[in-house]
Amino acid sequence: MGNVVYDGLTFEPFITREKIAARVIELAQELRRDISDDNPLFVCVLNGSFIFAADLFRACDFPDAEITFIRLKSYEGTSSTGQVKQVLGLNENVEGRTVVIIEDIVDTGVTAVELRRLFEDNNAKSVKMVTLLFKPSSLKCGKEPEYVGFAIPPAFVLGYGLDIDEKARGLSDIYALKKD
Ligand code: IMP
Ligand code: MG
Repeated sequence: MGNVVYDGLTFEPFITREKIAARVIELAQELRRDISDDNPLFVCVLNGSFIFAADLFRACDFPDAEITFIRLKSYEGTSSTGQVKQVLGLNENVEGRTVVIIEDIVDTGVTAVELRRLFEDNNAKSVKMVTLLFKPSSLKCGKEPEYVGFAIPPAFVLGYGLDIDEKARGLSDIYALKKD
């Protein structure tokens, strides 16, 4: 596996597809163990989470789970704008339901706070967050996600759904920005 270049920036291999796949299975087992609700609602946070959500949702194999999609945007290029825009809103009634938010990455926590508030305001029974990646040292607000695939240093990463200005989402492995 070699380096990849986007927008003149070099990214080096960071987490392989094999490691991702193994961790997705473990996360699915944790969710199956912890969620007793017959009809949980998974919420895939577009765009970055779509690949992780597809793999995780299949691996969970709940008999009666549903999945829906919401779209927020906080990033321009490689840094957070600190503001979250709701680009595609929520249509489901979440009252009394167990909601499992699926994120690709939790960085400053701004998006996570907005999402939790949205579901809590709509009277969800419980709100859990599962994220593939988490940058603990970047967290500025809110609490830690309940389920974390990999805790990582605060480097910019891409691949497996994660983008740089909408590019590189299709890479099967995750790459990190190379420091020079
Ligand atoms: P937060 O609101 O700062 O926690 O950022 C959340 C969103 O920013 C994530 O869902 C991603 O879409 C994006 N993001 C944060 N860090 C990265 C990164 O390293 N690569 C690509 N996108 C990122
Ligand atoms: Mg995202």
